[in-house]
Amino acid sequence: MAADLERILIDRDRIAVRVAELSRTIEDDLEAMAASRGGELELVFLPVMTGAMIFVADLIRCLPRRLRIHPITASSYPGKATRSIGAVTVSGVPADLTGRDVLLVDDILDSGRTLSVLQSAIQGQRPRSLRTCVLLRKDVARAAEADCDYVGFDIPDAFVVGYGLDHDGLHRNLPDIGILRTDAR
Ligand code: IMP
Ligand code: MG
Repeated sequence: MAADLERILIDRDRIAVRVAELSRTIEDDLEAMAASRGGELELVFLPVMTGAMIFVADLIRCLPRRLRIHPITASSYPGKATRSIGAVTVSGVPADLTGRDVLLVDDILDSGRTLSVLQSAIQGQRPRSLRTCVLLRKDVARAAEADCDYVGFDIPDAFVVGYGLDHDGLHRNLPDIGILRTDAR
């Protein structure tokens, strides 16, 4: 286990199993959507960088369909903070999503502020449909209220790193998801 972790919360094998399950659920929904329209979808995945980088890379390789990827960014944690404060800044949302079926992909849903700001920015570009997928959802009251279609794991309200998630830019490369030691913050 990496030295800065207090403990591993979700190991790489459980992540892989759940990502494969999620992709099957998403694929079934996409199939139904395509059938109801009698044709191909114009799928665009919008992964939120940098945290969703590894998750989206694994997810799309389980989805053998025509799709495009446009990374977008949202930031709300200044530096070493472990609680999101301040305004959420969004960039990279494609200018015109008319006729596109969008899947917004993020690493973790905490207060839900990031997702709601992103969802309104994306809706402003008039996609045909918008769904949201997060790998992790924290057990906090406001997270449950967020508008999210696919959730990988519900986790306790702790600060986690690994599998793309960072603290001050570090630990994204850890293959497991773990709770960061308090003295490593
Ligand atoms: P929210 O706006 O409070 O929902 O925060 C969501 C964003 O904060 C996520 O996209 C992450 O980038 C970051 N975040 C929230 N909790 C954690 C955590 O436990 N570890 C690492 N990043 C986190
Ligand atoms: Mg993020």
